[in-house]
Amino acid sequence: MASEHVPLVDLRAQYLALKPEIMAAFEEVLEGMQLFIGPRQKAFEQEFAAYCGCQHGVGNASGTNALELALRACDIGSGDEVITVSNTFIATVEAIAQVGAIPVFVDIDPETYLMNWQQLASVLTPRTRAIVPVHLYGHPVEMKPVMDFAHAHGLRVIEDASQAHGATYQGQRVGSFGDIGCFSLYFSKNLGAFGEAGICTTNDAELAEKMRMYRDHGSRVRYLHEVIGSNARMDELQAAVLLIKMPHLERWNAARQAHARVYTEHLRNVVDAVPVERGWGSHVYCYYVIQVPQRDLFRSILQAENIGTNIHYPTPLHLQPACARYGYKPGMLPITEALASRIVSLPMYPELTESQLQHVIHTVTKYANSLASQR
Ligand SMILES: Cc1ncc(COP(=O)(O)O)c(C=O)c1O
Repeated sequence: MASEHVPLVDLRAQYLALKPEIMAAFEEVLEGMQLFIGPRQKAFEQEFAAYCGCQHGVGNASGTNALELALRACDIGSGDEVITVSNTFIATVEAIAQVGAIPVFVDIDPETYLMNWQQLASVLTPRTRAIVPVHLYGHPVEMKPVMDFAHAHGLRVIEDASQAHGATYQGQRVGSFGDIGCFSLYFSKNLGAFGEAGICTTNDAELAEKMRMYRDHGSRVRYLHEVIGSNARMDELQAAVLLIKMPHLERWNAARQAHARVYTEHLRNVVDAVPVERGWGSHVYCYYVIQVPQRDLFRSILQAENIGTNIHYPTPLHLQPACARYGYKPGMLPITEALASRIVSLPMYPELTESQLQHVIHTVTKYANSLASQR
């Protein structure tokens, strides 16, 4: 008998649960034909910003756009240095490069896999203008020391919270610590549209106004272009989906956390590392990332059992061809590099069933036992 299918992410499950509401909203939007910067986008901006504990939300077309708008609004540009991590999705660095700035990498903490703030001082130069901490996999970065360092040196902080909608640090939601928080609303994120979308959160009215201008061809009034901007508007169909999904985010995050607890309880002593949760924050498990030996073999065994896996991310950004111009060489970020060859993400989405979880746990355990018996 074929084993139970456990995809890495099951987007259809969420769609089917909300289908009637979504279809009705699509019809309304299409009847009204206000397809951009419409009432749903504005309502979503307010709701999401308030959820994050921020006064302003600026909806836009993707998480990549969100980061770029944020950097532009902070006047970061040609020759400026921006400190970030190499263990993240390429978009973090793309946005920095797109505004003409230079990414400067620090290594990561070996347990959380997130920015090692203790290295910030070692890469500070007179050209450093900003820090982009990334709340990767759903775990918050330790924000207090990052903010203290930024304040001490007059740096902007732009949080990349694309994988951490709703995660908290010391009880406060991510996206509300820095000057601006940036979220991808890509369809597989904790909160996702059915297409591309992003949002920036801030408590600074001036920065919010600038981002609104940059997202819409540098204009506040139609055909009056105050600055060179771009087309980074959120479309109203995506806003409709996001408004419908928003009230479910907390419940979905709680479901992810419950699944993570089951995985961790059963796999803690089976694989080389399970995700850690620091006491000062809450992890919202966009991805459940473990470490295993012989990762390719591991993945092929899970695939044969109909279980989806992925690697977030196989090649650190500082070693990507696109980043060759920044002059990094293997060995310069040893923790990041060592991690990249050992991590693998297990299926994680709110609708995972008990039997799917057990199938994954059983298969991973069987794999680990077979390796142990060969030693
Ligand atoms: C950490 C991180 N930053 C930025 C992005 C970019 O978001 P988008 O795909 O919406 O442009 C992503 C999306 O995968 C991400 O995971």
